Amino acid sequence: MSGSTTPGTAIAQIVQTMRALAGSHPGFRPVHAKGCVCYGTFRGAREARGVSRAPHLQGDAVPTVIRFSNASGDPDVHDGTPNARAMAVKFQLPDGKKADILALSIEGFPARTPEDFLAFLQAQLPDPATGQPRPDAFPRFLEKHPSTAAFIQRLTQKPVPASYGQSSYHAEHAFKFTAADGTSRFGRYHWMPEAGEAHLSPDDASKRSANFLREELESRLRNGPVVFRLLLQLAEQGDPMDDVTALWPADRPQVELGRLEVAGISQTSMADERGMVFDPTNLTDGIDLSADPIPPARSAAYSISYDRRGKGE
Ligand code: HEM
Repeated sequence: MSGSTTPGTAIAQIVQTMRALAGSHPGFRPVHAKGCVCYGTFRGAREARGVSRAPHLQGDAVPTVIRFSNASGDPDVHDGTPNARAMAVKFQLPDGKKADILALSIEGFPARTPEDFLAFLQAQLPDPATGQPRPDAFPRFLEKHPSTAAFIQRLTQKPVPASYGQSSYHAEHAFKFTAADGTSRFGRYHWMPEAGEAHLSPDDASKRSANFLREELESRLRNGPVVFRLLLQLAEQGDPMDDVTALWPADRPQVELGRLEVAGISQTSMADERGMVFDPTNLTDGIDLSADPIPPARSAAYSISYDRRGKGE
């Protein structure tokens, strides 16, 4: 466990509840089960050096591994199913270490703390006594949690991306960035697709092939790399650092940190993803966590999930 203040039992319960909601799929993640591992190159922008001394932000080309995924825990989910999509990026640093950025296609998150996230998941479970669905439980949860309802509302506006390469992705938490001269500031990462954003209605998306996102990516990559710009939205006085449900004002200044070129899909994507963990606490000198309670709990949850996957659970 990685210094999380959340009790280990609550973290284990989250992973267990995710598994209960998704059903048994041994060897797969209990969420983000359907993925596609790609390789590419990131190069830091000139302005990035003024923000952080992190090695991958100094302007040199850095090899990266990228995993696109659907948030569902079902590895066979139809790609047209409305849900958040994700892009997880692992930077292979010159010193042999790794740094990760995990990001979702919807801004914010449905819960502010790990305990709230557990309650959010449990509200979707059937009645433990009868095993029957509880159609009122989730709407009741949303009534009591307006920031969760706001997240769901944002999801309905971008239910299905037309392409993994035509969605923005947001790392949600605030991180602290320190430059070589010792100055620090807080910011939130956003990946913006150079091809622009495009979304489908659930109806149109359901008519496409079950794996259309991967197929579309394969065909897009035949014409050249899929490119994302990494932007950092800078916090101003009073912006919350510890509340992933609260978006910062859209007019906060942004600094371009660099450009990611996704070059191709790994030939061993399936095997790669089983052996890999992306973790928001995999950081490097020049980037630190904020006071947000979620990332340390995520790290612990991702370890549990990885262990179970390795055991074929
Ligand atoms: C308490 C909060 C959270 C918990 C307990 C949690 C739990 C999990 C677990 C168990 C996995 C599977 C990991 C693995 O087996 O490798 C996962 C994957 C993932 N989570 Fe979370 N999560 C949380 C919050 C978030 C947030 C706020 C984000 C926003 C960026 C996020 C983004 C992702 C992504 C992108 C993946 C897929 C990573 C990959 O491709 O391997 N999660 N999460």
